[in-house]
Amino acid sequence: MRLFFALWPGPALREQLAALGREARHRCGGRATPPDKLHLTLAFLGEASAPQADALAASTRERAIAPGTWTLSRIGHFPRAGGHFPRAGVVWAGGDAGAEALAALHERLAALAAGAGLSVRSPGAFTPHVTLLRRAGTPPADWRPTPLDWHYRDAALVASTSRHGTHEYVTLARTRH
Ligand code: 2AM
Repeated sequence: MRLFFALWPGPALREQLAALGREARHRCGGRATPPDKLHLTLAFLGEASAPQADALAASTRERAIAPGTWTLSRIGHFPRAGGHFPRAGVVWAGGDAGAEALAALHERLAALAAGAGLSVRSPGAFTPHVTLLRRAGTPPADWRPTPLDWHYRDAALVASTSRHGTHEYVTLARTRH
């Protein structure tokens, strides 16, 4: 299984993100992320063994995170040309307000993962983003979506398994409140 830490939206925000995803698809084509799979990856850890996942799930349950708000106010793009799998052709929602706290969270969760022998496997710097579309075209440069506030108070440790080309996400643990 592959593990990652994520923020998962509540029902109201999920619906707002899904609506943004539909609008994005209308503008850029490609494949929209199904609403129940919309999330923000805080740290991608790659392949893990069952004992590693168990150990990290246990330490995740003991950890609390600082609650915060991240404002999604812009649409970004990882282009196909020069992009690397799995991000080529991704259209995403993101924003700078609250991003510093997410970067700090990324570091703290990376340190937690290190305790279970796992490390962050990301290409390049941490860019907080919610993937709205894959295999999509370039979004219009002047597109400024209505800002969405994401209030969060916990992070999830999620296992991703892939079967017949589709990913299944299972939440293994949440940080405590
Ligand atoms: P993405 O949305 O940019 O594709 C589960 O696959 C989550 O982990 C997705 O949010 C995905 O980010 C992210 N992910 C998958 N492979 C990754 C990688 N090699 N580096 C960073 N994030 C990755």
